[in-house]
Amino acid sequence: TLTSPVIDEYLLFGPESTCLPSYYGSGADAVGNFQIRNGDVIVASFPKSGTTWLQEMVWLLKNHLDYDAAQVEIYKRFAKLELPGIGDPNQPSRDNSVEELNRLSGPRLIKTHLPYSLLPRRTRDGSEIPKIIYIMRNPKDAFISYYHFGRAALGWRASKEELAKLFMGGTILYGPYWKSALGYWNLRHSPNVLILKYEEMVKDLRAVIRRTCEFLEREPLTHEQMEKLCGHLSFNSMKDNSAVNYSTMLSQRKNFAVNPAPFMRCGKVGQYRWEMSSQMIAEFDEWIERSIEGTDFSKKYAC
Ligand code: A3P
Repeated sequence: TLTSPVIDEYLLFGPESTCLPSYYGSGADAVGNFQIRNGDVIVASFPKSGTTWLQEMVWLLKNHLDYDAAQVEIYKRFAKLELPGIGDPNQPSRDNSVEELNRLSGPRLIKTHLPYSLLPRRTRDGSEIPKIIYIMRNPKDAFISYYHFGRAALGWRASKEELAKLFMGGTILYGPYWKSALGYWNLRHSPNVLILKYEEMVKDLRAVIRRTCEFLEREPLTHEQMEKLCGHLSFNSMKDNSAVNYSTMLSQRKNFAVNPAPFMRCGKVGQYRWEMSSQMIAEFDEWIERSIEGTDFSKKYAC
C-alpha cells in the first residue's frame, strides 16, 4: 500500500479490509460502541467527494443560517467520528473524537469517511437511528482530486498511474471506493438516509438544498435565504473562506507537499477527461463495470 510521511502506516481493517490509518485500530471499539443521540446527523463520504461542501451546507441549515458562527473552522463545528489525524491536522494532540463528541451537549453533526459497515453498532442494528447524508462523486473525478490532495497534503509521491492501481485495488486510504459507495447506496430507501451526488450539487445546488431541508425536517428557505446560501456555498466563495478551505492545514503541511494545491482546487465535473490518458479512462470504466455488475447501482452515479 501507500506510504506517507503524514500517515505512516495503513491498516487493513475489518472483515472486508477497509484501508484505514494504523492508529484507527486502538479506537475502533470506541467508534463501534459510540452512542448516537436523538437528532444527530452524520455526513458520510469517500474522501474527495465534496464532503466539506456538504458539511458547510448542513451546518448552516442546522444552525439557523448563522454565518457569523460559521466563521469557525469546519472541523471544529463538525467532529469526525474516527480518530483525529486526518482532517484535523491543526490539533493533532487532541483527544479522540469519540470522547470529544460525547462531551458536546445536544444533537451533534458528525463527519465520517468510514464505510457503513464500520459505523457504530447500534446504528447498524437499527436501535439508534441518526440521519445519514452520504455524498457520492464519480470515482474518476474523486480519484483525480485525491491524487492532487495526496500530493499537496499527504506527501504521496506515487505517480498517477501507480495511484490509480491502488485506488482501483482498494488499497488507498478509506478504500475500497465501492465498499463505501455500495454500502450506503444499498440503504438509499431507508427514511433516515439521503444519498446526494456531487455532480447534482454542481448542476443544481438549489434543488439539493431543498431536498436536504426536507430531509432535515427544516422549513424551506425563503428566496433571499436561498440566494445568500448559494452565494456562500459557491466554489469561489468557499475557496476564499478560511473556515472551510483548510488553508492552515495545507500551509502546515507544505514541507510534505510534492505539488502544492489548494483544497478547493478545481471544483469541476468531468475533469478526468483532461487529467487521464485514454488508457486510464478505459481501465477505470472497465473497473466500474466489473464492480457494479450484479448490483442495482445506477451507472449514472459513476459517470
Ligand atoms: P477538486 O479537488 O476536484 O477541486 P472533500 O471535501 O470531500 O475532500 O472534497 C473536496 C473536493 O470538493 C475538491 O474537489 C473541492 O474543490 C470540491 N469542492 C469543495 N467545495 C466546492 C464547491 N463549492 N463547488 C464545487 N466543488 C467544491
